[in-house]
Amino acid sequence: MNAIILLGAPGSGKGTTAERIRDEAKLIHVSTGDMLRQAVKKGTEIGREAESYMKQGALVPDGVIIKLVEARLDAGRPDDVYLFDGFPRTVPQAELLKTTLARRGGGISRVVFLDAPRHVLVERLTGRRTCRKCGTNYHVVNIPPKKEGVCDACGGDLYQRADDREETIIKRLEVYNRETEELISWYEKQGLLVRVDSSQEAGRLASEILKLIRGSDRGTAR
Ligand code: AP5
Repeated sequence: MNAIILLGAPGSGKGTTAERIRDEAKLIHVSTGDMLRQAVKKGTEIGREAESYMKQGALVPDGVIIKLVEARLDAGRPDDVYLFDGFPRTVPQAELLKTTLARRGGGISRVVFLDAPRHVLVERLTGRRTCRKCGTNYHVVNIPPKKEGVCDACGGDLYQRADDREETIIKRLEVYNRETEELISWYEKQGLLVRVDSSQEAGRLASEILKLIRGSDRGTAR
């Protein structure tokens, strides 16, 4: 059981890239943000616990996230290769992932850091629209749907995420700088990190990352 991590600030393009590469590289896409939004929608115990943190743009406590990811990996198979988007976000989460994969005879093959300037992040987040039904992401200017407000993939309604309002975006970027940025040097020291310019066009970014993943040495992309 191996894993590739997409690391980056809110709006850096983790979700969009994951959607574009997962099928071609035969990776199992795990987004903790999507899992939490599902849990909130269903009103589960984890959802009820996570909701207020998410609304404020704060991180959900490590204990909750670790429970969520462990359950997901427990349901996996030994030859699975995961593509994590939005996880890990703190050193305790990163340590948990490392030991969990090692227990299953695997490890992290590559950490791809999606790097973009702050003004690009803010512009992307304020313009993001997401499909209520299948979760596909669009952008009102950069990646618009063919018909306004309607998902190209499934015809579902597009909506603006509650945490994509300007004041919550500012909070999320502060939280990222304070709590997640240290993972860049943490993974750099382990020789796992590769940096990409994520302000480039989405198709080119996905191709560059696909190439990097295929070049990693743990037999991840099958
Ligand atoms: P989560 O859903 O993970 O949000 P995030 O990390 O803030 O990341 P985003 O989804 O906002 O951005 P992204 O990088 O995926 O960008 P995207 O591809 O959509 O988490 C939400 C909340 O859940 C957190 O705040 C926290 O409370 C909680 N949470 C989740 N995981 C947690 C964890 N591990 N620990 C603790 N708490 C956790 O792109 C953004 C926009 O830009 C889109 O409109 C897209 O169309 C556009 N775009 C993307 N790429 C390009 C491009 N190359 N060119 C032009 N436009 C682009």
